[in-house]
Amino acid sequence: MFVRALALSVALVAAHGVASAAPLVIKYSHVVADQTPKGQAALKFKELAEKALPGKVEVQVFPNSQLFGDGKEMEALVLGDVQIIAPSLAKFGKYTKKLQVFDLPFLFDDIEAVDRFQDGPKGQELLNSMTKKGIKGLGYLHNGMKQLSANKPLRTPGDAKGLKFRIQSSDVLEEQFKAVGGNPQKLAFAEVYQALQTGVVDGTENPWSNIYTKKFHEVQKYIMDSNHGVLDYMVIANSGWWDKLPADVRTALDKAMVESIKYGNKIAFDEAASYRKKVIDDKKAEVLPMTKDEVAQWRKAMKPVWAKFEGEIGKDILTAAEAANKN
Ligand code: LMR
Repeated sequence: MFVRALALSVALVAAHGVASAAPLVIKYSHVVADQTPKGQAALKFKELAEKALPGKVEVQVFPNSQLFGDGKEMEALVLGDVQIIAPSLAKFGKYTKKLQVFDLPFLFDDIEAVDRFQDGPKGQELLNSMTKKGIKGLGYLHNGMKQLSANKPLRTPGDAKGLKFRIQSSDVLEEQFKAVGGNPQKLAFAEVYQALQTGVVDGTENPWSNIYTKKFHEVQKYIMDSNHGVLDYMVIANSGWWDKLPADVRTALDKAMVESIKYGNKIAFDEAASYRKKVIDDKKAEVLPMTKDEVAQWRKAMKPVWAKFEGEIGKDILTAAEAANKN
């Protein structure tokens, strides 16, 4: 057996001139669909990294929680079972409390403000807030502003009273729904459709691309144009793995990552409106615009949540985030 294997490899080397080393396999796992900004950014990273390092790296992209879902992906990254993931900024609570800033309701006016904060000194500082825990932030990636949904119109905060809402694993989001009398339930993204379909929960919040690609609009009667918060990501790597990469490989991967994030962000900016339109055209759920007065009522009810988390987040970070609203 050994002799046969040896003979085969000698024959292969003879045929190809040199024995080439196996490529470095990089697993990039995420929980959303390929068509979303995150899905597209991951595929772009694969394309660019493999082009820059031909034969040296192989990037394997696993969408839709195929490799690891919400509950496991962060742990898997720290253990080295996956090299790159891009969790929502709402899912880092076990590793740092500072990123909770992104979950505060009605903090950012729009995705442009989120972008300015992420690009500024405090936002950039947060990319390195978990290095001691083995997590290296490679960059921020947008999805978009979240919309509230349920089987009844959520015009005013009182409409949320007594409803069960699926939330990401974030203490801020838990308080956000408690502030309007809702009953929040932390659930993995992969479980949301079924939970809405079977009535385990009554409502939820997500940006348009996730609503459409995961068909949440088929199991929710009303989606409000609430834009009450943001759902963005941090693309992260296992810092031990990243730091030990040969310098030329790391530089090329870093460049591919920066480009892939730009690509994903452009999709996030360009396509939020078209995903909203797709949801409307599907006629499964009604999309309800909100008046200024209705939005003001939600803001008033939810804003007290900020004070509960200001200490954990840090006043400096909160101030910088608020300042990003003004051009
Ligand atoms: C969610 O759990 O709703 C989102 O974080 C999913 C995602 O990655 O966009």
